[in-house]
Amino acid sequence: MKFKMRALRVAVLGCLLMSGAAASATDIEVLHWWTSGGEAKAAAQLKSIMESKGYTWKDFAVAGGGGENAMTVLKTRVVSGDPPAAAQIKGPSIQEWGQEGVLANLDPVAKIEKWDHMLPAAVANVMKFDHHYVAVPVNVHRVNWLWVNPAVFQAAGATVPKTWDEFPAAAEKIRAAGYIPLAHGGQPWQDFTVFESVVLGVGGADFYRQALVDLDQDALRSDTMKRAFEVFGALRADIDPDAPNRDWNQATTMVINGKAAMQLMGDWAKGEFTQAGKVPGKDYECVAAPGSQGAFTFNVDSLVMFQQDADDVAKGQQVLASAVLSPAFQKVFNLAKGSIPVRTDMDMASFDACARKSAQDFQAAAQSGSLVPSIAHQMAVPAATAGAMQDVVTQFFNTPDAPVERALAQLAQAAQVQ
Ligand code: BGC
Repeated sequence: MKFKMRALRVAVLGCLLMSGAAASATDIEVLHWWTSGGEAKAAAQLKSIMESKGYTWKDFAVAGGGGENAMTVLKTRVVSGDPPAAAQIKGPSIQEWGQEGVLANLDPVAKIEKWDHMLPAAVANVMKFDHHYVAVPVNVHRVNWLWVNPAVFQAAGATVPKTWDEFPAAAEKIRAAGYIPLAHGGQPWQDFTVFESVVLGVGGADFYRQALVDLDQDALRSDTMKRAFEVFGALRADIDPDAPNRDWNQATTMVINGKAAMQLMGDWAKGEFTQAGKVPGKDYECVAAPGSQGAFTFNVDSLVMFQQDADDVAKGQQVLASAVLSPAFQKVFNLAKGSIPVRTDMDMASFDACARKSAQDFQAAAQSGSLVPSIAHQMAVPAATAGAMQDVVTQFFNTPDAPVERALAQLAQAAQVQ
């Protein structure tokens, strides 16, 4: 009897996913932090797909790059017993939420649509809690990018730096020509984003993994980490005095407008170039952050579903998950967002040059063992540990002349926070 009921429910769900029509407009509330121009355009694609399926998209956008604000607001809502249907939550945090016993089960849609075959195993595993799907992956962002304005480089007679050793000379020429070498927003998550790219470029993927994923104490206190802090500290001289508190997309605009030469940021920045009508290879360049060619720091966005009392909302969650992984959505969303599809079977021909390079580099890095999770974007270690490490990094960056030895010791200590 139980089995029959389950089979019936799966059959009904199958019809629902195919017809896509909800009986009456059910609200599906989705918490996210996609509020910049490119991000909002990408999010609007999901809204319109859900509306075409008869649902009302209840937008729960909490501004703040990197998502710290959104996570604070989410905790309050869940604690008060009123979680949204879906929320943008990533990496190890999915497990932390799973342990709270508040997540919904997406196995029905995952089974029908064969997610286990559609998704890379490494991604699928992150989306499961206790062997059940509780989240749907949206995309793959690459973090270790350097965004370049070639006209500024040309005007300054500088060459795009391929290593951190080459960086100071290029920055010096750019500064001398009257431009800002590095567009940056002084917010802790942006400092940490730059820091992880420096660690990758200075130490390589194996070192990055030892230090920032395995949190190996020797690696964290090593000479390589010392060098990474030195390189990172030297970047203070390459950013402008108005950087504190600047949002990441405003920093991207400085590169777009030719006020600054470069930005170290994940490829959500490309969404801003696209939104401004800029073309890669002509108006801007996307190159690997210095020293990190061949490596790929990944950041997979995902929507986690929370248990709901209302049956129609619970069904809507399965419909939402199905829409997110549909080829049509994967294309329009990722074109606007700057990321690449998480489905491995997508044709990349209609994507821009940066996305095609990202997809190629992703495959190559996966094969060479140089694919590493972003610590700054909640992919690598538990939130509490990453938060403690981020505090050390941002304090170091914002304290001119802060001793490197002290930062090393503090980072190693922060890595033990659980
Ligand atoms: C998210 C991206 C978002 C970026 C800036 C990252 O942590 O993964 O989706 O665009 O933060 O807000």
